[in-house]
Amino acid sequence: MPATVVVGAQWGDEGKGRVVDLLAEHADLVVRFQGGNNAGHTVLADGRTYHFHLLPCGLLRGIVSVIGNGVVVDPATLLEEVDTLAEQGHPVDGKLLLSENAHLIMPYHPLLDRLFEEAMGPEAIGTTLRGIGPAYADKYARLGIRVADLLNDGVFRRRVELNVRLKNGLLENVFHQPPLDTDAICAQYLGYRDRLRPWVTDTSLFVEQQLRAGKRVLFEGANGCMLDVDFGTYPYTTSSNTIAGAVLTGAGVSGWGFDRFLGVVKAYTTRVGQGPFPTEAPTDIAAHIRERGHEYGTTTGRPRRCGWFDAAVVRKAARLNQLTALAVTHLDVLDDFATIRVGTGYRAGGETLTEMPNSLYRLDGAKPVYEDLPGWRADTSAVRRWSDLPRNAQRYIERIETLTGVAVELVTVGASREQCLSRDA
Ligand code: GDP
Ligand code: IMO
Ligand code: MG
Repeated sequence: MPATVVVGAQWGDEGKGRVVDLLAEHADLVVRFQGGNNAGHTVLADGRTYHFHLLPCGLLRGIVSVIGNGVVVDPATLLEEVDTLAEQGHPVDGKLLLSENAHLIMPYHPLLDRLFEEAMGPEAIGTTLRGIGPAYADKYARLGIRVADLLNDGVFRRRVELNVRLKNGLLENVFHQPPLDTDAICAQYLGYRDRLRPWVTDTSLFVEQQLRAGKRVLFEGANGCMLDVDFGTYPYTTSSNTIAGAVLTGAGVSGWGFDRFLGVVKAYTTRVGQGPFPTEAPTDIAAHIRERGHEYGTTTGRPRRCGWFDAAVVRKAARLNQLTALAVTHLDVLDDFATIRVGTGYRAGGETLTEMPNSLYRLDGAKPVYEDLPGWRADTSAVRRWSDLPRNAQRYIERIETLTGVAVELVTVGASREQCLSRDA
C-alpha cells in the first residue's frame, strides 16, 4: 500500500511538518485528516520559513493537498494562509482540495473557547483559543455548519439562524455578552464563498481514487498522540482523535488498511498548555532546552514546557498507532548536555507503569523513573550520515529504539531540509 501516515507521538510540535515536507518529495498527495488551525507546522525550505496551520505541508513541493472532512476549517485563516503562501511563491490553485463535509469554525467558536477558558479559572485547559473545542462540540451535537452548507444561501442562513438563537441564550444570560447577529455572520462568511468554491469537492472519493490508482499518499497528522481526545491526558487534550485511526474517518477511507505508520518524536519532550507532564525538567534545564530548541509555539507564541524524553508516552503512542518506525527530531538540541535523562516509566503507589495511564488520577504522586545516559558534547548539526554521529548520540537513539520497541528510521539535526540522516544499521 503506497500510503504513509505521519503522526506526532508526544504532545504536539514534534516536527511533523518538517518530516512531512521531507517525505513529500516522494509523494503524489498530502492529506490533513483532523484538527484545525490549532496546529502550527513550521517548515524551513529554500532559506525561507513557512508556517502552516490548515494547509497541508505538501504544498511546498507543489503536490496536490487535501483538507479532509475530519478537519475543522476557519475560512478566514485558510484564505490568509493561502495568500501568504502565494506571496512566498507557492500559489495553491489547482492543487488544493477542501472537503465539502468539513465543519466550519464560526465566529462564535473562538469566542466561546475564550469564555469557557476564562470561566474555568484554574481548571482551564490552556487551549489555543482558535475555537477548536466548540467547533467539534457543535459537530457532534449536530449543530455544525459544513463547507457544503456555505455554498447554499438558504441552507447557510438557516443554520446560522439556529446557532445564533441557541448561542445567544448562553452568551447573553450566562456570559453577559452582546448578542450575535445573523446578518453580520452571513455577510462575513458568504464573502469567503467565491474563493473557497473552486476547492470544494468530495475529497473522500478523490483520495479513494488516488489510492486505487496507486498514487503515493501521505497523511499529515496534527497535534499529537497525548492530545488525542480519547487516549491523551484528558481533559488536557484537544478535541479530536489525533491517532492514526482518525485517518480512516477523517479522510473517508475507512476500508483501506494502511501499513506504514511513522511516529514523529523529539529527542526530548515538550508540551504547551496545562496538564500532566511527568518528565518536565527543572526550570534551568527546561530554559536551556527552550532556548537551544527555540521552543515557542508556532500558533500562539507561548513558551513550550520542556523536559526529558518519556518512553512511557512514546510506548503508548507506538501501541495505539501501531507505529512501524520513528522519526527522531531535534537531536542537535541535546548537543551540549553532559548527561541526558530518559524517562523509562513511572512509579506510582508501589506499582511501575510502563505506559502513560488513561486516567490522570493514576498519575497522582507518580514519579518518573530515569536512566541517565552520557551526552556527546559535540555539534551534530552538520552530520548527514549515521556513521558520522558521535557514538554516544548513536547509543542514545539505539536506547530510544529499545525502550519504545520501534525502529528509528530518520533522525534530524536541525530545521532545514538537508539537516537529516537516515538510520542505517
Ligand atoms: P509540528 O507541529 O509537529 O509540525 O512541529 P512545529 O513546527 O510546531 O515545531 C517544530 C519546530 O522545530 C519548528 O520550528 C521546526 O522548524 C523546528 N525543527 C524541526 N526539526 C528540528 C531539528 O531537528 N532541530 C531543530 N533545532 N529544530 C527543528
Ligand atoms: P501541532 O499540530 C502543541 C494543545 C493546546 C492545549 C490543548 C487544547 O502544531 O503539533 P485546542 O486549541 O486544541 O483546544 O487546545 O492542546 N495543542 C497543541 N499543542 N501543538 C499542537 O499542534 C497543538 N494543538 C493543540 O496547547 O494544551
Ligand atoms: Mg506545531
